[in-house]
Amino acid sequence: MSDTQSSDDALPEGATETERLDKQYVFGTWSYQSEVSPTEVTGGSGVRFTTADGSEYIDFSGQLMCSNLGHSADTVADAMAEQAREGAYFAPGFTTEPRAKLGEKLAEVTPGNLSRTFFSTSGTEAVEAAIKIARMYTGKQKIISRYRSYHGATAGSISVTGDPRRLMSEPGVPGSIKAPDPYAYGSTLEPMESLEYIDEMLMLEGDTVAAVLVEPVVGSNGILAPPKEYLPRLKEIAHDHGALLICDEVMSGFGRTGEWFGCDVFDVTPDIMSMAKGLSGAYAPLGATIVTDEIATHFEDEMFCHGHTYAGHPVACAAGLAAVTSYQDQDLISHANRVGEYLGERLEELAAKHPSVGETRGVGLFRGVELTKDPDERVPFGHRSDKISMGSTVVDEVSAAAWEEGVYVGNMINTLIIAPPLPITEDDVDEAVAALDVALEVSDAAMD
Ligand SMILES: Cc1ncc(COP(=O)(O)O)c(C=O)c1O
Repeated sequence: MSDTQSSDDALPEGATETERLDKQYVFGTWSYQSEVSPTEVTGGSGVRFTTADGSEYIDFSGQLMCSNLGHSADTVADAMAEQAREGAYFAPGFTTEPRAKLGEKLAEVTPGNLSRTFFSTSGTEAVEAAIKIARMYTGKQKIISRYRSYHGATAGSISVTGDPRRLMSEPGVPGSIKAPDPYAYGSTLEPMESLEYIDEMLMLEGDTVAAVLVEPVVGSNGILAPPKEYLPRLKEIAHDHGALLICDEVMSGFGRTGEWFGCDVFDVTPDIMSMAKGLSGAYAPLGATIVTDEIATHFEDEMFCHGHTYAGHPVACAAGLAAVTSYQDQDLISHANRVGEYLGERLEELAAKHPSVGETRGVGLFRGVELTKDPDERVPFGHRSDKISMGSTVVDEVSAAAWEEGVYVGNMINTLIIAPPLPITEDDVDEAVAALDVALEVSDAAMD
């Protein structure tokens, strides 16, 4: 028995045994442990999930923007169970049917000549692999990424992350350089100006940059969708300077934007793409890094110097194969596109009604609601430093109020992050928007 100090203060009255044990023995992520108070979830079905006290919630953020298929889909559960019984694990030097078929499937659903995949177990690892591949392929070391970005938690991926979670890991891995973002609402630069800035950075760095790494539509840093011409021009700029374009599709992939991938919104094929989250619909920890034919060919006679014990884990790949097949069989990408349009319209109505909504933005089922205490001056309630400080912010209070109304919606700094499971219906959207309508009274009341 340990004598870990753990305050019970944060636990609600009537906390379950699981909640009590978890608080005592398990680290909460990205948080001050005294503030952590996890709610026990007992199950989910479709776009809803249930907590231990029997309450049901609409999952308006798809948990961590990853439950793209909805909860408890039999197709994926059955595929995983079958694979676990037939052979849960074989070393990466062997192959299995789900791994090979998922590789083939990813070559089919990703754009252009992206064709060969390295499998891992998370978005973080998918990005780490992308960075290493870019360095091995180009022989150069530097990576340009952007300030409003999240690319993962381990040394390399947190170094290329721009958001404040990076700060405690600094100085980080050398050669990680940050650029401005296409953030029309809150940046001093217009999106296309920020692109010219990157052009100049690449010129000034000389021929030393391996890749420019971006989320095609920025996720947790506020759902930032650039103008249509941004990503094609970024690819052009990167290539002009001998750098690759890496698209981090960990959050924006698999139907989230109403297209298969965020880069499809802009008709761009990157040189390298990282994926996770929706890849398995969050049924298994699974990441993937896919590269173009040219890059794949390079490694025929150069060592692919990377791997993990669980690279291509059969059960995780079985989950991925079943999830991607389900997106296809259930026509969920075009469904997300259609319902995403509707969601966008409903959020616009909220913006028109609530003065504390500065802007709603996004594409498909990937939407952000940014709050402001002064719409004329666009003064934010929350700041980047709040992400790494104690206590709750106005946007946290809005999320808490939505929870009281039966809707789970996550947030980051100053923006509600809306990314429900793709099978969500218009009726579900109406129900969730009605809850947000009530919750936004909290931010309205907090305005100056
Ligand atoms: C764009 C992006 N890249 C990478 C990651 C890291 O993925 P994971 O948390 O699965 O390691 C995330 C996680 O949210 C993400 O949104």
